[in-house]
Amino acid sequence: MSLFDIKDRMDALVKELNQHTYNYYVLAMPTIADYEFDKKLEELAKLEKEYPDYADPDSPTLKIGGDITKTFTTVNHRWPMLSLGNTYNEQDLRDFDERVRKTIGDSFEYVCELKFDGLSISLTYEDAKLVRAVTRGDGTKGDDVTTNVKTINNIPHKLKHSDIPPLFEIRGEIFMHRAAFDRLNKEREELGEVQYANPRNFAAGTVKMQDSKEVAKRPLDCFLYSLNTDKNYFKTHWESLQSLKNWGFHVSSDTKLVSSIDEVLEFIKHWEHQRFKLSYDIDGIVIKVNSYAQQQELGFTAKSPRWAISFKYKAEEVQTVLEKVTYQVGRTGAITPVANLKPVLLAGTTVKRATLHNADEIELRLKLHENDTVVVEKGGEIIPKIISVVLEKRVSDIPVKYIENCPECGTALIRKEGEANHYCPNDEACPPQIVGKIQHFIGRKAMNIDGLGDETIETFYQKGLVKHISDLYTLHEKAEELKTLERFGERSIENMLNGIELSKQMPFEKVLFGLGIRYVGETVAKKLAFGTKNINTLSSASLEELIAIDEIGQRIAESIIDYFGNEEHLRQIELLKSYGLQFEAIENEIALQSDKLTGKTFVISGVFENYSREELKDFIESNGGKILSGISAKLNYLLAGDNMGPSKLDKAKKLNVPLISEDDLLEMLK
Ligand code: IVH
Repeated sequence: MSLFDIKDRMDALVKELNQHTYNYYVLAMPTIADYEFDKKLEELAKLEKEYPDYADPDSPTLKIGGDITKTFTTVNHRWPMLSLGNTYNEQDLRDFDERVRKTIGDSFEYVCELKFDGLSISLTYEDAKLVRAVTRGDGTKGDDVTTNVKTINNIPHKLKHSDIPPLFEIRGEIFMHRAAFDRLNKEREELGEVQYANPRNFAAGTVKMQDSKEVAKRPLDCFLYSLNTDKNYFKTHWESLQSLKNWGFHVSSDTKLVSSIDEVLEFIKHWEHQRFKLSYDIDGIVIKVNSYAQQQELGFTAKSPRWAISFKYKAEEVQTVLEKVTYQVGRTGAITPVANLKPVLLAGTTVKRATLHNADEIELRLKLHENDTVVVEKGGEIIPKIISVVLEKRVSDIPVKYIENCPECGTALIRKEGEANHYCPNDEACPPQIVGKIQHFIGRKAMNIDGLGDETIETFYQKGLVKHISDLYTLHEKAEELKTLERFGERSIENMLNGIELSKQMPFEKVLFGLGIRYVGETVAKKLAFGTKNINTLSSASLEELIAIDEIGQRIAESIIDYFGNEEHLRQIELLKSYGLQFEAIENEIALQSDKLTGKTFVISGVFENYSREELKDFIESNGGKILSGISAKLNYLLAGDNMGPSKLDKAKKLNVPLISEDDLLEMLK
């Protein structure tokens, strides 16, 4: 290698490792196996040692770790955010209890709380207003994520209670309910995007997003569990929790005040199984001495308080045998390997399958062999995970080899550089991709075709009635053939054909979303439709032109160019055009997100704390409401910000028009 080549290699490694560090720490979504990452880091460190003159002063070898990101302002915590000591068994807990007793004697209480599995957040309230939300970071300083946190419904922006300290900090855990996680992750899968491993990563990734509007679309929740103030307003932690509830904070009601370590152990035992019935994940129990005076007496170690400890549940695990690995093909052609296991009982359910994520998981992390005995774990996650292989029980020398060809159509699979998943590129002829694409097209969020469901599409495909989206629009010519199908009465055929006909009126952005272009979700489809106005401009746009559109990045732009570079896609679009589908954006048309405000009129006036007037107008119109220019007796609401003109205010009062704040508006949209 010449010196030039060495310098190039080092630069490339720096760039690649920085991207992976960003994926891991900021997006909480690694796209490389740890092992591969470490190998690259090692290679870079070695080269830096040999050629120190070429070493980047900002090299990732100097700064891997931590979760403070460059893109948010770093803020010092007024009270450090400490961590908790962990215990895993009864003895550890009894030892903790003994240590506490030695310092404060025998007369005290414990508060037992659930240990929510999310990311901790510190909220500062001044004069009853939320002024700052900061992540834990390294414990002394974290990222200011206020704008994002303000989108979480359960976190009040303004407190209505009159009797609250002028300044306080409250801490809690932001998390995502499992049902929301499953739904959103499924949507990501359908869009061909990398899936999050668990709700915690999804919540962490969301809080660290740059665009708060995106954050607002991902339902997060937050439990608050501790209060910091300059002087003591309460005598006990329990008292403070009750007050926090009254002030309007989301405080868990699964918290218990107890007076002995035996009762703590009972609480732990109770939740060991009950936790699976919660709608969110917990990974243990937190035990805190109740009295603030006694907490003070106990004090802190360098890292954690001596008055609190956590008990961590061991994820339930069990051994079973890998019977075979099968591969599923998604709508976008993404391949998901699945471990088919000898059925085994785990955390109350029979487990037969576990996800294997991708080739690296099989070949690099687990290094699976055929018929291996594996340890399967079910922590908070719904889908069980293989955590390791029991090498002593290995029976075969043959490693599991990731497939090279699509299990459905035989086409050679591809894997793009930097991506974890393999894809089947045969999107026009691979059966599950075709069926999946048509199912996506008719779906509620796309063309929303009445009278047609996923199963019907499956049947139509098997009978050779539809092979492409465009075939839906010639189904009326096959009415006689349809009548011969089982469970297909005249009424339902008519219904379906009506639904198909009506879908020709669906706006361009819905059609575009329905086409199922990889990475083009609902929002992106809207941006593209209104940014390019029609399919001709969109299909002939260059990479630069696409990237110039709001929210369109390199990855999406490349995917669009790929899509329109395919002759068959263009042919399909021509057919759909000829059937009368909409391929032009209608100026000023707003796609309805809900009809919650239908029939309601609004005037917006003044300056707002969280959203611009334009954004508020968008919220109202996209939920069916109407904006009026002036105040009249017919007006339903005056959305009033700061510095509103006094004459408007007077008029609204005279006409009895209710004044609402931006929070009230968001409340109406919930
Ligand atoms: S109290 C001084 N209470 O667990 C420590 N933490 O391992 C104050 N957590 O960083 C934390 N549920 O992110 C506390 N009910 C709860 C909790 C909880 C989850 C998290 C929190 C903390 C970590 C400590």
